[in-house]
Amino acid sequence: MFKKSQFLQIGLLSVALMTPLLAKPQVALLATGGTIAGAGHARTSSQYTAAVVPVTQLIADVPEISAIAEIHGDQVCQLASQAMTPEMWLKIGKQTQAQLDKEAIVGAVITHGTDTMEETAYFLDLTLQTTKPVVLVGSMRPGTALGADGAANLYQAVKTAISDNSANRGVMVLMNDTIFAAREVTKGHPFKPSAFESPNTGPVGDFHDNAPFYLSRVDRKVESPFDIRKLSALPGVAIIYGYAGSSAAQVRAAVQEGARGIVMAGVGNGNLNPDTEKALIAARQDGVVVVRSSRLGSGSVTKEAEVDDAKHGFVVGGSLNPQKARVLLMLALTQTVDLDRIQGYFDTL
Ligand code: DGL
Repeated sequence: MFKKSQFLQIGLLSVALMTPLLAKPQVALLATGGTIAGAGHARTSSQYTAAVVPVTQLIADVPEISAIAEIHGDQVCQLASQAMTPEMWLKIGKQTQAQLDKEAIVGAVITHGTDTMEETAYFLDLTLQTTKPVVLVGSMRPGTALGADGAANLYQAVKTAISDNSANRGVMVLMNDTIFAAREVTKGHPFKPSAFESPNTGPVGDFHDNAPFYLSRVDRKVESPFDIRKLSALPGVAIIYGYAGSSAAQVRAAVQEGARGIVMAGVGNGNLNPDTEKALIAARQDGVVVVRSSRLGSGSVTKEAEVDDAKHGFVVGGSLNPQKARVLLMLALTQTVDLDRIQGYFDTL
């Protein structure tokens, strides 16, 4: 029969063998602020303050996430995302990369305000070096509101980040039981929980029956050439909004402020009024890279339609909305001012 010491050894060996099977997956939770970290005074009032609840409280308020994963929380910043900046994108990206580089971390969830979430998501999608799931999540109502959506969104984001089927899909956004690709997602409504959409492609998945279910994937034609680990600063790029009678003064002001690039949110198929076109041609002569985008919010701006892009040296933004085109142009300008290379980025990333 076994001696006492042998029983102990068998017991210890069993624990050692079972631990990996029982151990919960480790997820990095990087908090940046937003309404998901917001609080108001009355459950029925829409008045609240964003970016006041710390990451420790976010984790404590949704115990279900700690039941499915070992959560490593970091408070990267505490901002309403209308105050987000390219400098903060770099900080978020570098801290996310550092977490993802840890072998034990299976994925990352980033809580973020919804106003500019699409910009941060696309920046991270272009610069993070990982195949692990990265899911940005926010909420349209603070946790103190009747019908608050943040807790469910956060749980679903963590569940998505630990799903084996979520790897190698690029950065995603999860809101309102729906999963979106970073490149395609945009906020399409000021206050509804269903605010997020992907007008050109639709969502890549849904969350139901306590799991993510993927409908499609948004595959990149080529690997992104941008690496968060090699970025230290991002050049200034302005967005100019076009409308009937819009003044070219906006363009001149951007050039005078030192913009290295201008994204034109033109009317229709990225069209320009004569004064604006002249000012953009002058900006090109000052070395400013100009990308024609559109205020339409869906579809794809086409080359050489009503504008002689080749003659003026304009880059065409394709299906990226103006705020996404700005993200890509900022990154492109960290590598080159060659128009053919930059157009190549817009045609493939
Ligand atoms: N201030 C907005 C922001 O932080 C609130 C919107 C939200 O997070 O849902 O983006």
